[in-house]
Amino acid sequence: MLSFLPPFPIEDRVMTANPTAPILLFDSGVGGLSVLGKVRQVLPEAPVMYVSDNAGLPYGSKTEAQIAARVSGLLGRLTERYRPRLVCIACNTASTIALASVREVLEVPIVGTVPAIKPAAAMTRSGVIGLLGTEATIRQGYVDRLEAEFAADKRLLRHGAPELVTAAEAKLRGQAVDPAVFARAAAALRAMPDGDCIDTVVLACTHFPLLEAELAAAFGSEVRFVDGSDGIARRVASLTEGQLWARGEGVDLALFTRDDPADKKLMPALARYGIARRLVF
Ligand code: DGL
Repeated sequence: MLSFLPPFPIEDRVMTANPTAPILLFDSGVGGLSVLGKVRQVLPEAPVMYVSDNAGLPYGSKTEAQIAARVSGLLGRLTERYRPRLVCIACNTASTIALASVREVLEVPIVGTVPAIKPAAAMTRSGVIGLLGTEATIRQGYVDRLEAEFAADKRLLRHGAPELVTAAEAKLRGQAVDPAVFARAAAALRAMPDGDCIDTVVLACTHFPLLEAELAAAFGSEVRFVDGSDGIARRVASLTEGQLWARGEGVDLALFTRDDPADKKLMPALARYGIARRLVF
């Protein structure tokens, strides 16, 4: 029978998207878990596939060309194989370098991670903001543009802190981290001109909110921290509004790009974020 009407009402089309299709959350390591925590709060029923490119970690010491090629290639293969309904690049380094090019080649909606300079500019009273990121992130034109747009009347002091990435990876494996690592990050920002006036610090690497308690102890109680994860979770929720979710057994899967037996130590931390299985991609 020919029909000129759609087979189901327009508003039902969104509801018929495959309810088991996951949200794919991508990072070079465990940093994206800080974003997953916030996504879970707003979308407790969403199936999530967490991807750690541990074979490429750390991104922060790589060149722009290396990061762009790696992230585009991996996300292309991952989306083809797992058909996520949305991709979240839960990594500031990858987003500030590769977000535009990844969006050009993939059809799936993509949410990136942007250093939280705008909210920091609204929060600061002293007008001096610190920014902790990877060495690659802090040199990006993307960060220059955010600074010019939202913090032109403030002072933004940037510091690349690769040691903090290593510290977050160790912490989530249950290993002790020397507090001197956090003291060094605080001291580096404080030593810059006007650094003693910093009252707000942007955590511009998704690994760093996993260390907020340690960083707070190093910076002192007068400093507040801000990161982009709340905004990302809101954006993911709004782009998937009205969709059906089926989370299987209520637990998620993590994919790693390298089989490292030491990563078994991550299982308790992954379990706290609802991830029960670890596979190599
Ligand atoms: N988590 C990543 C970020 O947000 C970077 C860690 C790395 O250097 O790979 O920038």
